[in-house]
Amino acid sequence: MAERHGEVVSAVLDSLLDRSPDHTADISAPAHRPEPHAAAGAHIGIQGVSHQFDLAGGPLPVLDHIDLDVKPGEFVALLGPSGCGKSTLLRLVAGLEPATTGRITHDGEPITRPDPSRIVVFQDPTLYPWRTVWDNVALGLQARGVLKAQRHRVDEALARVGLTTYARMLPHQLSGGMAQRAALARALVNDPALLVMDEPLGKLDSLTRLTMQSELVALWQRAQFSALLVTHDVEEALFMAQRVIVLSERPARILAELHNPLPYPRQRGNAQLGELRHEALRLLGLDATW
Ligand SMILES: Nc1ncnc2c1ncn2[C@@H]1O[C@H](COP(=O)(O)OP(=O)(O)OP(=O)(O)O)[C@@H](O)[C@H]1O
Ligand SMILES: [Mg+2]
Repeated sequence: MAERHGEVVSAVLDSLLDRSPDHTADISAPAHRPEPHAAAGAHIGIQGVSHQFDLAGGPLPVLDHIDLDVKPGEFVALLGPSGCGKSTLLRLVAGLEPATTGRITHDGEPITRPDPSRIVVFQDPTLYPWRTVWDNVALGLQARGVLKAQRHRVDEALARVGLTTYARMLPHQLSGGMAQRAALARALVNDPALLVMDEPLGKLDSLTRLTMQSELVALWQRAQFSALLVTHDVEEALFMAQRVIVLSERPARILAELHNPLPYPRQRGNAQLGELRHEALRLLGLDATW
């Protein structure tokens, strides 16, 4: 899995560097692509998407007729059993591989490759260990050749995640939560229209995790990108997202959508959250133990 994360990160970096298989760009040679639009949430359309992996022993069906719309600026979470196909769905949305059948669009345009407007954040912050926090965050702007003119955006992104005083440190000098915040700053500096998160807080201790949940929601509210979050944590999904999609065992199909209309900032002890939690656990077949 770590290997695949590395592959995905490098694919996303490739997209930042405007590198396609037959076109190699050097980080020092700016790719002349237009600046991404200032953050406006992406509209992601997933229509009739099924996906399978062709293994030696036969096809492995992973996604089964997924229909899902993420509206501009919406925060959607995916919950589902381990191995059901959540990360696969995120990879398709990120443009890292094409769906076997069905259609995935970004503002109506088919998604065919990774794009800097759709940024993926993983459980592992995957910072470059030899670059300072500031230099890691600057990567996307540097890759597009706009760093000189836009250094302030790196400072702003670091300020947004509370890392201003750690800018000159190396990744190994950070705590796990700080490293994850640095990874978020690196994502946010690109003004993503869609932030795709695959268990981004999964490795943090529970207290840091609760803090980070609130911080992520605050960042989303300020930057107004659309957010698609995969988590195994039912409370986290319900606390953060406006809509929680509950998936079945593999091949994943949508079992239910739970709408959470509670305004932000949310109170964890809220009775309505408790009811939604029970409903989510019931759908996941876990209610008997709670
Ligand atoms: N590149 C691949 N080739 C073959 N099989 C794959 C590939 N990627 C994923 N799979 C298989 O697809 C299924 C879904 O994997 P996926 O990583 O999407 O699950 P997940 O829901 O994210 O699980 P987890 O919650 O444990 O992260 C698994 O059975 C996995 O073994
Ligand atoms: Mg996964």
